[in-house]
Amino acid sequence: MSTFGSLPISAGLLPVRHGNLLDFPQDPIACMRSLHAEFGDLAVLEDQGQRIAFVFSPEYNRQVLSDPNTYLSQFFAVRGGRRSAQRRVTSGLLSMNGAEHRESRRVMMDVFTKRVLPQYHETITEITDDLMQDWQVGQQHDLNTEMVHFMLRMTSALLFGVNDAQYSVELGNKIDAWVRQNHEVGMGALVSSPEFSDRYDQLLSMADDLEDSIKQMFQKHRTANTEKRSDVLSLMFQAQASEQQLSDEKLVGHATLTFAAAHLTTAHTFSWTLFLLAQHPEVMQKLADELENNTTGDHPSFDELKSLSYLEAVIKESMRVMPASSYSQRISAMQTQLGPLTLPAGTPVIFSQFITHHREDLFKNPDEFRPERWASISPGAYEYLPFGAGPRMCIGASLAMVELRTVLAVILKRFHFQAVANSEVNGRVISTMLGPTSSIDAVLHSADVVPDAVPVYGSIHDLVKMPASTKPIAIRRAA
Ligand code: HEM
Repeated sequence: MSTFGSLPISAGLLPVRHGNLLDFPQDPIACMRSLHAEFGDLAVLEDQGQRIAFVFSPEYNRQVLSDPNTYLSQFFAVRGGRRSAQRRVTSGLLSMNGAEHRESRRVMMDVFTKRVLPQYHETITEITDDLMQDWQVGQQHDLNTEMVHFMLRMTSALLFGVNDAQYSVELGNKIDAWVRQNHEVGMGALVSSPEFSDRYDQLLSMADDLEDSIKQMFQKHRTANTEKRSDVLSLMFQAQASEQQLSDEKLVGHATLTFAAAHLTTAHTFSWTLFLLAQHPEVMQKLADELENNTTGDHPSFDELKSLSYLEAVIKESMRVMPASSYSQRISAMQTQLGPLTLPAGTPVIFSQFITHHREDLFKNPDEFRPERWASISPGAYEYLPFGAGPRMCIGASLAMVELRTVLAVILKRFHFQAVANSEVNGRVISTMLGPTSSIDAVLHSADVVPDAVPVYGSIHDLVKMPASTKPIAIRRAA
């Protein structure tokens, strides 16, 4: 009889599915949905003695996320040898645990405090104006590509004080390729698959190259005029002057992982929000009215933006139904009890924003985009968690919200979007992030028009339930 921890699996009482562990990284949402449908709040995928545990309820989310001593963070990174660049570029918050994590987080949190957020407002507004510089009514744009490039530039400017589009794209591409390689090698290690271990050498040389780029950026930054600069790196350099333990090596890790954590999550949130608004004209109309009646000029002020409750509801609802961070993982540090399961040390435990946010018992009609619901609900920290929850909750959450509010308001005061009829919109999870995997083609309209929703094809319909008018029209076959 096989056993799971101390409990017999054959008893039929435990939520265990025997299957291929690689089913999970291949299509995380499909795999988690089917485990949730079959087993409910807790499930285990087991393959030849190797297991991944999944938690899908607020109570299990709480147990796992609020106990960082039992459930360690392990950003899908292979740490690399002690003296390797791979070790240094992965030495950011996401890979730290215990006292080291607490101490580094304290230093980083100071840098992200609300006090400095108004200073970012001007930079965000300027870069958004630049984005729209060549936009004209009637043009067609791919929101996905545009938002990814825009956020590379925005993130470089806000985090590193570098406002150079070409440099941002180069550095961002290096970081993205490296994150993806980590994910694949890390997943390979999880299932001990030899086909993945070949990529390890490649990962190490990518890390060498990335570390060089980050160090060059530090150098450029230090030699530039740093007076009155409020980018995150300047604040970290200031913190470094007073915090002896924040060495340059640690800064390399913090800079890399913070950039990686910041730009795609925000870019995907923009793409999904703009697309959802285009496909829900009544929501767009209400938002346009709020912007018109409660803000002045093309550039709403920081305080005006904070008072826009419908914009806030739109952003929250977009991150509920299409959370850019769709799941994340922990590793059990020791043998531990989770509900009926005894988890041996080293068991990966996945929690999922996507599954939690789509639970019918927490959110009525959970697959629909309905910002109005936020007028009457206030879910708990482990029920609604686009930025995670507990002691590892996103440290950039307030900054991300400032970016989302400001950019959406500045764009939507000038342009509205209409999806291109019969185009294809696909979304999928890659390296834990739920993002578009196709273009999101949209036509620009002026802000005094609220265009109709249109039919689109693609996997978007498996992720969010949209109005009937957006359903693809069946293709007629020739007789
Ligand atoms: C819409 C945008 C964003 C989303 C959806 C998001 C989501 C998340 C989530 C879910 C976590 C927790 C992961 C876990 O528990 O395993 C996290 C952590 C983190 N995020 Fe964000 N994030 C966003 C933007 C940002 C920004 C703008 C920054 C920095 C400028 C940032 C920096 C970080 C860092 C450093 C961590 C690690 C915290 C720790 O381990 O203590 N994120 N983020």
